[in-house]
Amino acid sequence: RSAFLQGENPALTLLSFAPPSLCAPLLLSLPPTVTHLDVPPLFRSRFVLGGYRQVGQPWQRYLLSLLQLHNDSLTVWSPLLAAAVVSLRFLMFAGLSADVSSLPLVFYVFSALAYLGCSAAAHLLQPHSERAHYSLFFLNNVGGAIYLYSCALALHLYSSDAAWTQSFLGKVGAIFLPAAALLSWTSCAASCYVKVHSGWTCTFHRKLYSLTTISVISPILHRLATHSWTSSPTPSLHLLQVVALSLLSAFFFSCSSPERFSPGSFDFLGHSRQLFHVLLSLCTVVQQEALFRDFLWRRPALARLFGAERLLLACTSFLWLTSCCGVAALALRSRLQNRTSTAAEA
Ligand SMILES: *[C@@H]1O[C@H](CO)[C@@H](O)[C@H](O)[C@H]1NC(C)=O
Repeated sequence: RSAFLQGENPALTLLSFAPPSLCAPLLLSLPPTVTHLDVPPLFRSRFVLGGYRQVGQPWQRYLLSLLQLHNDSLTVWSPLLAAAVVSLRFLMFAGLSADVSSLPLVFYVFSALAYLGCSAAAHLLQPHSERAHYSLFFLNNVGGAIYLYSCALALHLYSSDAAWTQSFLGKVGAIFLPAAALLSWTSCAASCYVKVHSGWTCTFHRKLYSLTTISVISPILHRLATHSWTSSPTPSLHLLQVVALSLLSAFFFSCSSPERFSPGSFDFLGHSRQLFHVLLSLCTVVQQEALFRDFLWRRPALARLFGAERLLLACTSFLWLTSCCGVAALALRSRLQNRTSTAAEA
């Protein structure tokens, strides 16, 4: 029996544990997790020594591994749970109106769900093959960039204070939004490019992501810096989100802590990639709540502050950015295919 459990012959395991329940034999048919030495270098993470799923299994194995404890369980489950909370909260939210002022909020919710979904799918399914690894990784980047831009749009329109909208930087459409779009697109393209060309030896794209995040939340930073944030609940929600998002997750993102201090101890629970995704998922939930409140507060004055045409233009820019990120990722993906096929010929 223990040999079966080691997964030496999954088909036999499946047979010998025929139903009482349908799920149990399927789970037992999953091969156990392996160590970092058993997967190709592309799939290894520094200081994470175990809990890897074997590479090159059929897709349904990876889908099933949702129910297994492995090195990316939390990385997959946290965005999934956050997506469920975000959708439920959105369905319960009763403040939407059928005009252009609600559109950025709808875009925000849509892109939050898209990025959470892409992130969960990418971490769940990427060990399928090298090609899946790259493609899903690109998808994850596109999701991230779209989400960042939708944050910029929503924070700029709903959460900024009057001083921001009247300031030079904040003039809608003039500087802030194009800069945010450019930064989001560049971070997406740069991290796909770096991934294809140098593995992860270059860290330029990480700095670019940090810069993009800081720019995207600058309407909030401005508001927090100029207001007393204790008077109403929204600023403290934003503060929570800003502190957690920009400081903690940047910390985990960039320095492989805590696993670097005790390689192997955080393989299943608690390594930096998991903590990063848990924090990011929490941030999304908190930020959505803050945005809903800001939306209700700002909506009556929105068209007057920004002008209906500019609002529409801002919304169109979101669709533009989405297509541009998609095109960049597809272009790099086909380049990757060319490269792997020439490598195979050589
Ligand atoms: C977890 O294992 C998969 C392979 O199954 C690997 O691709 C991934 O990089 C690992 N994640 C971490 C954080 O080690």
